[in-house]
Amino acid sequence: MNIVVAVSGGIAAYKTVHLVRLLTKVGHDVTVIPTEDALRFVGMPTWEAISRNTVTTSVHDDVARVRHVALGQAAELVIVAPATANTIAKMTAGLADDLVGTTLLSTTAPVVIAPAMHTEMWQHPATQANIQTLRARGVHLVGPAAGELAGGDSGPGRMSEPEEIAEAALAVIENARDLAGLRVAVSAGGTREPIDPVRFLGNRSSGRQGVALAAEAAARGASVALVVAHVSADVLAASQHPNIDIRAVGTAAELADAMKDAATRADVVIMAAAVADYRPAQAAEQKLTKEEGVLDRIELVENDDIVAGLAGARRDGQTIVAFSAETLKDADARRERARRKRARKGVDLLAVNLADAEHGFENAHNAVEIIGDEGAVVASAEGVKREVAAAIWDAVIAARRG
Ligand code: CTP
Repeated sequence: MNIVVAVSGGIAAYKTVHLVRLLTKVGHDVTVIPTEDALRFVGMPTWEAISRNTVTTSVHDDVARVRHVALGQAAELVIVAPATANTIAKMTAGLADDLVGTTLLSTTAPVVIAPAMHTEMWQHPATQANIQTLRARGVHLVGPAAGELAGGDSGPGRMSEPEEIAEAALAVIENARDLAGLRVAVSAGGTREPIDPVRFLGNRSSGRQGVALAAEAAARGASVALVVAHVSADVLAASQHPNIDIRAVGTAAELADAMKDAATRADVVIMAAAVADYRPAQAAEQKLTKEEGVLDRIELVENDDIVAGLAGARRDGQTIVAFSAETLKDADARRERARRKRARKGVDLLAVNLADAEHGFENAHNAVEIIGDEGAVVASAEGVKREVAAAIWDAVIAARRG
């Protein structure tokens, strides 16, 4: 396996020497990219000797082979250890002023980071916000551990031990491409049912969970049809990937058509979109006014249940997943309702999420339980939506194996 180890400037760089040794020992081809600062802690000859590969820090070396992007393009895994507060901030902003930056921007391989810094720097809101952003982009975090830090301080901020980083990194590689060859269809966002040219019936779905499911699937090798209803451009930005094909729709009826079409080519269908259960019987062509006295009585008709329809028409070997946003605080009551919903819709898996002030709609975080065969809770996950997405795909794979 072709692994790039980026080393930023912290005292923990000496531990990364051992990490490189562990990786080469089990047969991986490791290229080390130290930052200029990292070389103050461990010198070039050490990195070259331990990795048995040429080491450079400059984007101007080996220009004929466009080294500034070639390393990232060829990498099957990138590890940043130690990841200092500065390097984490640069990663978050997408800065490309050195070889580490250009490599990180040009790779589609999984990225594992092992932060190392003083406790105050780790706990600073700037660093924590950066870490959240990186996790939401699918970056895997190892540590930091709590313990002794440089200068005699102690607390969280110590880089994890090389063995732990190697183990986590190798686990990431193992299921890095576990959706390769699979075609999946995912819906995201919330439908809007027009009342008149200026009003609609809608909901609070941001589309983040569906977009995270699409991004995670593509990162793990699937080819993805993503159908979005009213997802903002900044949320949608997370789904920029060559293997994601995006189609935008507006109403439940348009979403139904797009998903039916995508499902004819999909091995897995996930309905993460929040669909309006009802629509106005008629969308008025002119703006309705209070004068007319019609705005307090809008006649509604029921929309088709899209996911139930897809489950009813399910092909052999196709897996159908639905979501259920619940506001019931009691976990048992939530599960019971979810079990009934799963049976009613006829889906393979149902991901139940609590929708409250911190979780679900309009939040970066989510917490789900996944209900499978016979109503059993087959998995649960809590975290940023990309991490929840990873757990849902794990459950899909397990269900397909079962
Ligand atoms: N869904 C759908 N078509 C609809 C409504 C919902 O495909 N017309 C899908 C959603 O995408 C989601 C799941 O069904 O995957 C859960 O929808 P939800 O509205 O929570 O379930 P309902 O059956 O409408 O039950 P209730 O609103 O009573 O909770």
